[in-house]
Amino acid sequence: MEGKDIVVTGGLGFIGSHIVDELVENNRVTVTDNFSSGKIDNLKYPNHENLKIIKGDLNDLDLDKILKGTDYVFHLAALASVPESVEKPLFSNENNLDGSLKLFVAAKNNNVKKVVFSSSAAIYGENPNIPLKETEPYMPESPYAVQKAGSELYLKAFNESYGLNYVSLRYFNVFGPKQNINSSYAAVIPNFIYGLLNGRQPTIFGDGEQTRDFIYVKDIVRANILACESDYNGIVNIASGNGLSINQLYDIITEVLGSDIKPIYEDERIGDIKHSIADISNQKNIGFTVDSNNFKNQLKETIKWFMDNPQ
Ligand SMILES: NC(=O)c1ccc[n+]([C@@H]2O[C@H](COP(=O)([O-])OP(=O)(O)OC[C@H]3O[C@@H](n4cnc5c(N)ncnc54)[C@H](O)[C@@H]3O)[C@@H](O)[C@H]2O)c1
Repeated sequence: MEGKDIVVTGGLGFIGSHIVDELVENNRVTVTDNFSSGKIDNLKYPNHENLKIIKGDLNDLDLDKILKGTDYVFHLAALASVPESVEKPLFSNENNLDGSLKLFVAAKNNNVKKVVFSSSAAIYGENPNIPLKETEPYMPESPYAVQKAGSELYLKAFNESYGLNYVSLRYFNVFGPKQNINSSYAAVIPNFIYGLLNGRQPTIFGDGEQTRDFIYVKDIVRANILACESDYNGIVNIASGNGLSINQLYDIITEVLGSDIKPIYEDERIGDIKHSIADISNQKNIGFTVDSNNFKNQLKETIKWFMDNPQ
């Protein structure tokens, strides 16, 4: 992608900052972020001449003005925490649904060519129909999941009512450099790495046989750009399509680190789902494929980042 005017909401966060790093050299990028969890330090080129950072909440900013002349919007701004949405449903709704709706209105008012929305596998809830297809029903179990589902539905309705092009990307378990270890959202990989690097025994909840579908943050960046450039309108799971048990994950991380520290097993957490694996056949609609043989190298890059950036 080159020579485009792009807005990245939440562009100072874990995933958003990787998207900005990728796009800023060849495009004009405007980041909007309220700095609630995002930080300038996440950016590789914070002073790049193509970059404009607007500090503010989606609900307060003049989005009509910001989106003037914008080709594409990557919408990542959200309170990305399931537990926090359970504690503060109204507050998370303001961030995740009201903010999205205001952004989509500004996008259609400004004839933005496409909106790529960061959705979540949380919308599937405890649906046992593994691997999960995009056509499965919404089964949200948290306010966060309702807000992601609502944003997806608004995009579908805006496509039908106003012709606004969109792709909603449902991420499964994302990992990679810059992931916040204090985040309570599916942060098993940074927790294991951080604990082991500090000589501590990480905790596994339950028997460790629960499976998750991990996807590297740089694949998420690729998926966003491909979704934007494609002619597709709709929803795509962004995942590897492979289930890895938490015990297998632990073994791979200890092998890469050369550690013989054993985990501590604790009771299963209430609400933890047993298996989460995506059906990835819809990815062809945006021309995206994952090289799942690369998992160990991706873990090595992640571990290196945690070693270079002690928290
Ligand atoms: N990390 C994952 O595993 C994962 C999985 C599924 C979906 N997602 C979604 O991907 C997106 C990015 O997640 P992340 O892990 O990078 O989270 P993050 O918390 O690192 O990034 C979110 C960014 O949005 C900003 N923000 C939050 N509310 C805002 C608001 N109202 N106005 C303006 N800025 C606001 C934050 O300051 C932060 O920079 C989120 O929408 C999240 O729900 C993440």
